[in-house]
Amino acid sequence: MASVYKTLKPASGVAVLLATLLLGVSSSTVFAADQVSAKLEPRNEKFQQAHPDQYKTWKATSESKEIEDALQGDPNMVIMWAGYGFSKDYNKTRGHFYAIDDIRNTLRTGGPTNAKNGPMVMSCWSCKSPDVARFIEENGEDAYFSGKWAKGGAEIVNAIGCADCHDTRSDAFKNGEPALKLTRPYVERAMEVIGKPFKEQGRLDQQAQVCAQCHVEYYFTGPTKAVKFPWDKGTTVDQMEEYYDEIGFKDWTHAVSKTPMLKAQHPGYETWREGIHGKNNVTCVDCHMPKIKNADGTVFTDHKVGNPFDRFQDTCANCHTQSKEMLQDVVKTRKDQVTELKLLAEKQIIAAHFEAKAAWEAGATQAEMDEIQLNIRHAQWRWDYAIASHGIHMHAPEVALRVLGTALDRATDARTQLIRLLAKKGITDPIEIPDISTKELAQQALGMDMDKMRKEKAEFLKTLVPKWEAEAEQREATY
Ligand code: HEC
Ligand code: HEC
Ligand code: HEC
Ligand code: HEC
Repeated sequence: MASVYKTLKPASGVAVLLATLLLGVSSSTVFAADQVSAKLEPRNEKFQQAHPDQYKTWKATSESKEIEDALQGDPNMVIMWAGYGFSKDYNKTRGHFYAIDDIRNTLRTGGPTNAKNGPMVMSCWSCKSPDVARFIEENGEDAYFSGKWAKGGAEIVNAIGCADCHDTRSDAFKNGEPALKLTRPYVERAMEVIGKPFKEQGRLDQQAQVCAQCHVEYYFTGPTKAVKFPWDKGTTVDQMEEYYDEIGFKDWTHAVSKTPMLKAQHPGYETWREGIHGKNNVTCVDCHMPKIKNADGTVFTDHKVGNPFDRFQDTCANCHTQSKEMLQDVVKTRKDQVTELKLLAEKQIIAAHFEAKAAWEAGATQAEMDEIQLNIRHAQWRWDYAIASHGIHMHAPEVALRVLGTALDRATDARTQLIRLLAKKGITDPIEIPDISTKELAQQALGMDMDKMRKEKAEFLKTLVPKWEAEAEQREATY
């Protein structure tokens, strides 16, 4: 879709854009020789002078600051993720500007007291900062991935920014061209696996791929728990499920049903590809980073990645003639439909977890539980794949509804098998589910000590984080 560019009025920025269009793919490779000479600059404010419009709009992602507690909104999810970090704390997304704050603040990363402890692994930093690209370039992937999360605290300090998406040392970038780049080697490998190596892609695919560095499904593997995308068989829910089953992978063991579970991350790129806009190569950037004009009339890319409806005239209206109200209504209806099926799937999957628990307690054997657990695993993977792809109701609602439909099917199979198994063990009454009507009650039902977690977190923020910041400041002063 080239339609976005149709509306550009002649202005100084157009020359730049045309130049990039002509340079196309080569702009990121031609200047590769530059790369070895200088260190990678992770600090976003260092680009303010050269690229004021992009910097200012990038910084405006800080305006999306509201924190919305997703578990409070849907306490079922506490049970869905029982035994896993997400049942402790899970907020909806906000601006890129807050990526570092939010990973430090979430209860999921716990309250480490030194570089060696803390529940999470280094991989958790991977989609938060240009320091990840810098650290990997300076020390290699193994050195980056190995160790616990707190090891990276003093290194990974700048929020998602310029050096996450651009080859900031290239002359092209210095001259005001995009010079887009994949800044993580594991992303480059994944794109090769699906036959879309970055350097061979046209401009639009490259745009989508820079977002795909983070808005994707991934898992942690090998001795260093390195990031890998599970795309060897393809990027649909079925293909990734088959891949995970074949390698026998699990993210965790469910605390209620003891099932080896999969946690979907945020397969936004994968689901976008399957949707109507993806199929027409209308990319993330067409909607989330439109071309706009500054006060002098220069055209540039709006870096305030946020909700495209907030700038309807520069996004949807470039291609659609319908009114904002009409399109918003379409999207809202689809969201409601996805939410309805999501809740129905949760109801069945949660019942299956508790029925499985009852079956274990009644003396079920692993052999009796194998197929049941496989159905629970698949049901929840499918539920998660659909709901963790933020914005899926907009990007690919039909994919969401189909995947949630199959989640319901697998959950129903599990429950039919469970009811038979329970009857065989002499249990014919319905299995009771505890009161999980609020986040607090659901966490209580799992015996989680939230006060302790909050205390450890507060201590960590008060003592270790200031040390990280002081150390980072010292290091950056030498750049
Ligand atoms: C380096 C990783 C990374 C890259 C690259 C990246 N994102 Fe994000 N994105 C994130 C993370 C992490 C969050 C959540 C931040 C938070 O809540 O603290 C996020 C949040 C968002 C949000 C929600 C913003 C809000 O205000 O609620 C949107 C929309 C988004 N990203 C779109 C994109 C698009 C489009 C691209 C490509 C142009 C992109 N992202 C590239 C990691 C990334
Ligand atoms: C999430 C990814 C992402 C981040 C972060 C990001 N950019 Fe961009 N940038 C893009 C995309 C996408 C384009 C447009 C590409 C195209 O038109 O093909 C772009 C375009 C540009 C351009 C070319 C001129 C223009 O406006 O189209 C410049 C210069 C630029 N960015 C500077 C910056 C600076 C400076 C920062 C940090 C403050 C930054 N970018 C952060 C993705 C990003
Ligand atoms: C055709 C336009 C369009 C395209 C293409 C598109 N998005 Fe979106 N996206 C939207 C809209 C609109 C919303 C908000 C939906 C709503 O208001 O409910 C959204 C929501 C999101 C969200 C959730 C934000 C939140 O607050 O929950 C993320 C993350 C996101 N998009 C990332 C991406 C990525 C990554 C791509 C490309 C792989 C992409 N989008 C492609 C229009 C688009
Ligand atoms: C760069 C062009 C472009 C932009 C920007 C764009 N769209 Fe589209 N949109 C398309 C194309 C192409 C189709 C497919 C039309 C067809 O096949 O008839 C489409 C289809 C749709 C459909 C119908 C999809 C279906 O399921 O049948 C909706 C709804 C829609 N767009 C909403 C939006 C919204 C909302 C935005 C802004 C957030 C947006 N679009 C931005 C090009 C665009």
